[in-house]
Amino acid sequence: MWTEQHIEEIDSNIKRKEEQLSLPVEINQRLQIKNRRYLGSKYKLLEFIWKVVEQNCEDIKSVADIFGGTGVVADRFNRAGKEIIVNDILYSNYLAYLTWFSSESIDQDKIEKLISMFNNSEPQEENYVSKNFGGTYFSEYNAMKIGYIREQIEMLSEEINYREKAILITSLLYAMDKVANTVGHYDAYRRKLDSLREIKLLVPDVNDKLNRENRVFNMDANELVREISADLVYIDTPYNSRQYGDAYHLLENIAEWQEPEVSGVAKKMINRSHIKSDYCTMKATKAFEDLITNINGKYILVSYNNMAQKGVGRSNAKISAEEIIEILETRGKVKTFDTDFQVYTTGKTKIEDHKEILYLCEISR
Ligand SMILES: C[S@@+](CC[C@H](N)C(=O)[O-])C[C@H]1O[C@@H](n2cnc3c(N)ncnc32)[C@H](O)[C@@H]1O
Repeated sequence: MWTEQHIEEIDSNIKRKEEQLSLPVEINQRLQIKNRRYLGSKYKLLEFIWKVVEQNCEDIKSVADIFGGTGVVADRFNRAGKEIIVNDILYSNYLAYLTWFSSESIDQDKIEKLISMFNNSEPQEENYVSKNFGGTYFSEYNAMKIGYIREQIEMLSEEINYREKAILITSLLYAMDKVANTVGHYDAYRRKLDSLREIKLLVPDVNDKLNRENRVFNMDANELVREISADLVYIDTPYNSRQYGDAYHLLENIAEWQEPEVSGVAKKMINRSHIKSDYCTMKATKAFEDLITNINGKYILVSYNNMAQKGVGRSNAKISAEEIIEILETRGKVKTFDTDFQVYTTGKTKIEDHKEILYLCEISR
């Protein structure tokens, strides 16, 4: 038997369902530190690194990741409650460290509103990015939007603190990586422009409770080690002649925002001398020796891979395994650990039996 009351109930249920269905779908996805492509990222090796430290080192309270790259290694230790120091020669990476590891207070609401405003903007005017990188690294529209957003962030400088600015730029740099017409770095763009998806910035998922004692730097690691000390110093230098400042020139350009003239097919900023690394040159072994000599701490952990023989070629390693061990032994006993790891090479040659190696030195002298 249906009564009037049943009909009213059914009516109100239908109305409620209709309202729910017409609500805009909120995609509340947050940006994570690992959501970017980066040459030599140790993301897939984190548990290997963690286990080696856990099983072979005693009383580690602080960890310095002085060639930090994406910062995922520092992040692994930060999540485990360690005090961390993170550093990289690239300013774009430093801004990411301020985002993920700083404890400067931020207005989360303001960040969310600004990112939403950037995503909803529809710029129409040419700018530095559209003129230099539209139709090559990015679609014309995305390039215009990237330039517009970066200009807006610069104009907000008076209203936001330094970390809030770093968070907005980091969100933009990660979003650029998702729509760039590249294979993950900016040494070249793909000839056919087919990355047409519209750029979308995500709000970084920061957890400041973990960040109280952390310190972040944008320095040459050889200078930094003279100023800091940490129980464990983790070292992951570039392996070959490929400069990170060349591979990520475009992110660095947007981060620095000096709007420099660019040159060549790859449209690189002309002056990149401040981001050149000795570890990609013939000076690598000397630089490594100087670094190890000046470290203050209990343990040194070095990542290197056995893929390439030392030599002068673009993909050749700049420091040999024997040199690493010999130099580390000047500070204490050295243990070696290895695991199979995905092949990394600048050419197409497939190298069998590739292993990622960790050298652990317990400092005693
Ligand atoms: C192999 S990558 C590190 C990858 C990192 N472990 C990760 O998981 O993302 C090497 C890093 O060292 C940085 N670098 C190169 N020379 C440097 C120097 N002299 N001082 C500080 N950083 C340097 C590069 O910019 C690059 O980000």
